[in-house]
Amino acid sequence: MNKLTELFSNNRRWAHTTEEGRPDFFKTLAHQQSPAYLWIGCSDSRVPANEIVGLMPGELFVHRNVANLVVHSDMNCLTVMQYAIDVLKVRHIIVCGHYGCGGVVASLEEERHGLIDNWLRHIRDIHASHQTDLKRYKDKRSLTDRLCELNVVWQVYNVCNTTVVQDAWGRRQPVTVHGWIYGIENGLLRDLDVCVAGKTDYKRVFKDEKKPMPRRW
Ligand code: CO
Repeated sequence: MNKLTELFSNNRRWAHTTEEGRPDFFKTLAHQQSPAYLWIGCSDSRVPANEIVGLMPGELFVHRNVANLVVHSDMNCLTVMQYAIDVLKVRHIIVCGHYGCGGVVASLEEERHGLIDNWLRHIRDIHASHQTDLKRYKDKRSLTDRLCELNVVWQVYNVCNTTVVQDAWGRRQPVTVHGWIYGIENGLLRDLDVCVAGKTDYKRVFKDEKKPMPRRW
């Protein structure tokens, strides 16, 4: 049986190097975690949350799924958010998409991919509600990139509308929601400028309930 020994030796090396750089690192970490950030990102192996933003274990609470979606009834994502906000008291929620997202690409294709099509239906809905805007993007690459951006903006909107975030804002707990996108080709993050820090800010950023897009989008 292949027991993936290479990964275990990598692990021992990593634990050793980390402990060398910061003595008692793991012992201290074992007592508690107090991350300031919740990361909601794509499962894509090329978008490793901690590495991208240079944060150590204990500094970033992470939820990842295909195409970084925040679905109103997804108990998995909502549970992560509730724990992050109510217990860990994170101050920032970062929704981070990435250009060239396989989930977004697949959502634009006609053929069946299996069960995942039901999940990707959420992106197809976004596509459908931005048809006029998206018609301007003639080639597949720029259309995909634009849809990746729009997807992040919508997921920021969804985060803001969860009971978890609404209740936090209601009791004046400081929670700011951010929308970022990551470039796999250059390793750089881009802020999509849809930062929402509370209920007043929400009204400023999003136009109205019927077409919930930030003003400049
Ligand atoms: Co992706």
